[in-house]
Amino acid sequence: MITMDMSGRVSLITGAGGGIGGGIAQVFARSGAKVYVADLEYADAKVKADQIHAEGGMAEAVGLDVTRKDDVYALIDRIEKDNGKIDHLVNCAGIAINKPYMESTDDEFRKILEVNLISVDNCCKAALQKMIPRKEGKIVNILSASSRMGSDFFSHYSSSKFGLLGLTQSIGLAVARHNINVNGICPGIIVTKLGEKQGGGLVEQLSKRSGKPREMMEDAIKKSIPLRRFQSGEDIGHMALFLCSELASNITCQAINVCGGMRMN
Ligand SMILES: NC(=O)c1ccc[n+]([C@@H]2O[C@H](COP(=O)([O-])OP(=O)(O)OC[C@H]3O[C@@H](n4cnc5c(N)ncnc54)[C@H](O)[C@@H]3O)[C@@H](O)[C@H]2O)c1
Repeated sequence: MITMDMSGRVSLITGAGGGIGGGIAQVFARSGAKVYVADLEYADAKVKADQIHAEGGMAEAVGLDVTRKDDVYALIDRIEKDNGKIDHLVNCAGIAINKPYMESTDDEFRKILEVNLISVDNCCKAALQKMIPRKEGKIVNILSASSRMGSDFFSHYSSSKFGLLGLTQSIGLAVARHNINVNGICPGIIVTKLGEKQGGGLVEQLSKRSGKPREMMEDAIKKSIPLRRFQSGEDIGHMALFLCSELASNITCQAINVCGGMRMN
């Protein structure tokens, strides 16, 4: 029988107070892993960790700003000290600032690159310092359908996620000889709090921009997805779990679409 048994494994998931990261954390905990649920918003991380405890899983909520390099290194040092190792790093923390290209600003671009790209580099380096001597470890970066195709409305977001695709491939190449796998997942569309600070998630924003009612916009987007539904955090969690399992031991430097067929490249 093939199982995804992660008992004894230690996983750090960033952005795990959010919709996708929360789904990933739940799936890893259900498979038996001890999960560090890290997020800028400690209260959101705590809610997720409490849900995992209620299901009988192992989780610790951690307040972490991934752009603070020293804090990232300190957390990973502590995880190693407490458990003797870190097996999995899933980089899911991210932000979106959606605007037509000509209205977007340098500061917004810098911010989005800092959170979505540079901080992933920091997290990967910090974890790899622990994984390389053990010659074991798995890293999964959450990319996007926007890593595959540019966009006027989220040009800077898309640029950060294209960059993250390149970083994922490059780090994967750098550490393959150490028996460490580095892959990415490209989700399609998931209704989460991403972009909410701008007054609504992606569907609301596109609805306002087009002048179409929200339901009509949601329907139109779903019709553009071959499987006719948005993804869930757990859909992404299942792929992340597979990529961190021994079943995926010969997969590295890849970006896997989990988007109901919306992208095929
Ligand atoms: N929702 C989608 O349709 C979609 C599609 C493709 C890719 N993604 C990607 O999935 C990831 C998760 O997004 P989501 O949709 O779950 O959004 P979300 O807003 O629900 O979750 C993102 C989480 O990241 C956290 N975060 C933001 N900045 C941080 C920082 N500096 N340090 C630590 N945590 C920080 C937020 O507090 C939040 O909990 C992002 O990288 C996003 O780009 C989302």
